[in-house]
Amino acid sequence: MADAPASMTARFLPYARQTVEDDDIAAVVAALKSDFLTTGPLVEKFEAAFAAATGATQAVACNSGTAALHLAALASDLKEGEAAIVPALTFLATANAVRMTGAEVVFADVDPDTGLLTPQTFAAAIASARNGGLKPRAALPVHLNGQVCDLPALAKIAEQHGIILLEDACHALGENNVGAAKHSAAACFSTHAVKAITTGEGGVVTTRDSAMAERMRRLRTHGMVREPADFSSRDLGFDGNEPNPWYYEMREIGWNYRIPDILCALGLAQLQKLGRLFARRREIAALYDRLLAPLSPAIRPVPHGSAPHGWHLYAILVDFSALGTTRARFMNALRKEGIGTQVHYMPLHLQPYYRERYGKQRLPGAETYYARCLSIPLFPAMHDGDVERVVQALARLVSKVSA
Ligand SMILES: Cc1ncc(COP(=O)(O)O)c(C=O)c1O
Repeated sequence: MADAPASMTARFLPYARQTVEDDDIAAVVAALKSDFLTTGPLVEKFEAAFAAATGATQAVACNSGTAALHLAALASDLKEGEAAIVPALTFLATANAVRMTGAEVVFADVDPDTGLLTPQTFAAAIASARNGGLKPRAALPVHLNGQVCDLPALAKIAEQHGIILLEDACHALGENNVGAAKHSAAACFSTHAVKAITTGEGGVVTTRDSAMAERMRRLRTHGMVREPADFSSRDLGFDGNEPNPWYYEMREIGWNYRIPDILCALGLAQLQKLGRLFARRREIAALYDRLLAPLSPAIRPVPHGSAPHGWHLYAILVDFSALGTTRARFMNALRKEGIGTQVHYMPLHLQPYYRERYGKQRLPGAETYYARCLSIPLFPAMHDGDVERVVQALARLVSKVSA
């Protein structure tokens, strides 16, 4: 992509930003003019397109990534008295979805350089759950920043222990085979504003298990059953052999996690450009990799090698103390230069709610990653000149110290 004119390069660069184009807007306007604002034909169309994009056989769309995680956990029968393993380095939603089922969370440590759950930290978390008298029934590996976990290795361990794998793929939609759910029961995506594609707020669960998909579709709308063939009550549901025209029934508690047609219209338009948006993310990441190399070891990219990636975030590891600064001062200095950054994430075992529930824990990998991580701007509309501007600002902060 060509460089932007000088006047454009001075704009504020957030750490992430949606790409909404004229065709997206036209698709939403058309949906608004249609007969359906809530659940209509575009929900199924969006689900089919999402399944095709990820290589899954089924996709269940809902109104947030959090709802997607909750639906997947519910459809795995996770419940009170059981436990699920969650890497400590993730967004609140991964663990909260487990708590929303009544099950307990067992936090696993992560690799200090990638922030990912590894086979070693997974096995250690299973052992620690067992030592604490908890039976882990599920685990939710997180593809942090878009880096793809070693799923085949995690799946092998999960199988040995009878654990269901539910991928938190909220960062990982891209051309990287994430979502095909070949090594897991399901993968959960977010289509929140700053994700790979957006519906404003939204989420999708992909799976190869059609019974699980059906259950999630029921749970997304109050646990309601509308198909006469599935009615359990003959006397309430039928007039003779004819189903009552008003009748629906509920056999288990569900939620309103429905996504409206208006948002699916946007999602469908966005999915059509996923390849282009992802390719630009990958290009920007490669440019950062190259331009940041001279700033090592004070600043270095989170190591990714040639492993598959979703490039949701571009995270760097900064040795703030070697630079004689703090992360807050560093972030504020960048902000003064018009550059937004964010921390993904404070480990969840340090959150007051979880600390109170499970006591103080030490997870050194997660804490080491947290101490150094910083997400710098990455979004498809960035120009090469924007990337250079970010790296130059980082270089100035490094040289201030070495001067
Ligand atoms: C790793 C991860 N999991 C889950 C979620 C929840 O997604 P949503 O915000 O769509 O509920 C997010 C959203 O930022 C996330 O980053």
